[in-house]
Amino acid sequence: MTEHANIPAIKGQNNLIAGAISPSADITRDRYISPDFMQLEADYVWAKVWNIGSWAAEIPDTGDYVVHQLGKDSILMVRQVDGGVKAFHNVCTHRGNRLIYGDMGTTEKFACSYHGWQYELDGTLSFVQDAEDFPLGNPCGVRNLAEIRCELWAGFVWYNMDVDCEPLADFLGEVKEIFDRYDMDKMVRVGYQVAEIPCNWKSIHDNFCESYHLPTTHPELSEFFDDDYKNTIFELYDTGHNLMRMKGAVPSKRDDAPDHVNEPLAAELKEWGLDPMAFEGRAGDARGEIQQAKRALGPERKYDYFPQLLDEQLTDPFHCNLFPGTSITAQATVVGLQRAEPHPTDPNKCIYENWSLAAPGDGVVRVPNTPGDHRPLAEAERHDVIYGEASLGFIPDQDLRVASGQQLGFQSRGFEGAYLTGQESRIQQFHDRINECIRTGLAKET
Ligand code: FES
Ligand SMILES: [Fe+2]
Repeated sequence: MTEHANIPAIKGQNNLIAGAISPSADITRDRYISPDFMQLEADYVWAKVWNIGSWAAEIPDTGDYVVHQLGKDSILMVRQVDGGVKAFHNVCTHRGNRLIYGDMGTTEKFACSYHGWQYELDGTLSFVQDAEDFPLGNPCGVRNLAEIRCELWAGFVWYNMDVDCEPLADFLGEVKEIFDRYDMDKMVRVGYQVAEIPCNWKSIHDNFCESYHLPTTHPELSEFFDDDYKNTIFELYDTGHNLMRMKGAVPSKRDDAPDHVNEPLAAELKEWGLDPMAFEGRAGDARGEIQQAKRALGPERKYDYFPQLLDEQLTDPFHCNLFPGTSITAQATVVGLQRAEPHPTDPNKCIYENWSLAAPGDGVVRVPNTPGDHRPLAEAERHDVIYGEASLGFIPDQDLRVASGQQLGFQSRGFEGAYLTGQESRIQQFHDRINECIRTGLAKET
């Protein structure tokens, strides 16, 4: 692991697909617009990593199922009789018809709409028409659904299409210990939005991998977060994941009035029984006292996991980028998950999701989402948004606007490739990891 902000960016020499087999990639526009590079990513990145397929509470009972579309792949996850979850490729083993259309449902068996083959919840083929008419023998119990690896962690259903993959805990590495502390599996998913965005999935994840854009793209955040990279810890792990620990509950020194108790900070102080007036002129002292107040009051407010949290986790956002496309930001009682995944056919588009999780504290009926948006503490249904017609959240809207603008820039022959700051080194790590996956995958085939 490498720690601290000023990690020098690694400069590579090559680009595009040649870059994929070099030790370090220049981050050129081709990576964002090339169908060939998109296919390499599909084969050697997405098909080889652990992906979040679903929120486990979405399929609580036996026979509940949910489908996750990832590029051209479709994965079916099903709650089993024993309470576990199994995952399968969503394809009939007779002649390849898509087995389940739609996002979710409940069933006793899966029946193919073409010739009526039927599969049990555990994937076993249990009925076919004219079973005696197969020269190779009755396929029942033999041509079962193609099962893939599936595990539950932190309230999420995870799958990996690579049957030889490492266990999920090994894939997560350091991230698992950090996020185990929040008891996310007991949280409620209060927001779940999905939208197609006109940019490559990496444009969005690049954005997740740097905070250099905060003062310019999200100037509002300086009221409550110390957005100076020199005061922020960046951790880059050998697993390919990374973590940013930015101080929260403190105005940035870049803010117009860093010693003044502004509205969001006053609200947080009041929420935890502290008097905002007592901190006027010394707003920087609030963070430590809020941590102490949360430490004292958390358990009686039914935040039973607070004793497990580090002091910093009580006030600061712990922002983790999970390779390849997921970003999780935990802030003591609320967790945001954003992710960008490839479009099935077009490298200039992606599928973006925004999830909001909240801890069910004592008496909590509404929880904060993005600024100005509170929502009920109840499991939310999936909300498909047409990009540009409705908001995906105040902060996400700002990020998606610039990611879409970048995609326009990537069409320009005048763009030579990214030129990174030290504090953007997580972007370099991200692209190098993609290249490593492709290089490893290609090497195995030769
Ligand atoms: S393709 Fe499914 S039963 Fe024939
Ligand atoms: Fe952002």
